Amino acid sequence: MTVRPVYLIGFMGSGKSSVGKMCAGQLSVPFIDTDTLVEQKAQQSISDIFAEQGEDRFRDIETAVLQNISREPSIIATGGGIVERERNQKIMDENGVVIYLHADFATIANRLQVDSSRPLWNQDLQKRHALYEQRLPVYRRWGQHVIETDDKGLEETVQTIMNVIK
Ligand code: S3P
Repeated sequence: MTVRPVYLIGFMGSGKSSVGKMCAGQLSVPFIDTDTLVEQKAQQSISDIFAEQGEDRFRDIETAVLQNISREPSIIATGGGIVERERNQKIMDENGVVIYLHADFATIANRLQVDSSRPLWNQDLQKRHALYEQRLPVYRRWGQHVIETDDKGLEETVQTIMNVIK
């Protein structure tokens, strides 16, 4: 495997965490979730951070967390909004491999349905869709590899990642 961290990027519900955990298990490397690290650092849930400190503060913590992750081999699931800060691209590009997991909006909507733990999903359909459309080209640009997941099950997506990073 690549001796560098592997960063999974993609919209909420694209499977970064489930796929990432399986890859990490197969490779016997740590699985890291930036959302979890943000919550630990802030000692608050993501929805509370958004509600009490605002999205900008959340993004600051997210970038600080990303910057501080070890450069040892690992699989890192990033938050869907990692593409909201240019600086995050530089951090990931310099330190590892960036893989974009693409899922169509319909797939995501079907997976997430109602999810109160994700403040930016927990808004009206038009806004969610606009956010998806706005980020799509950025994910595609930042991804050094793009994996289409709509036509794949979990196992196949994991296998595709393994082939990319071997
Ligand atoms: C966000 C995605 C979430 C989490 C936060 C903001 C976003 O992560 O970081 O709710 O801006 O898309 P997941 O992609 O893991 O749901």
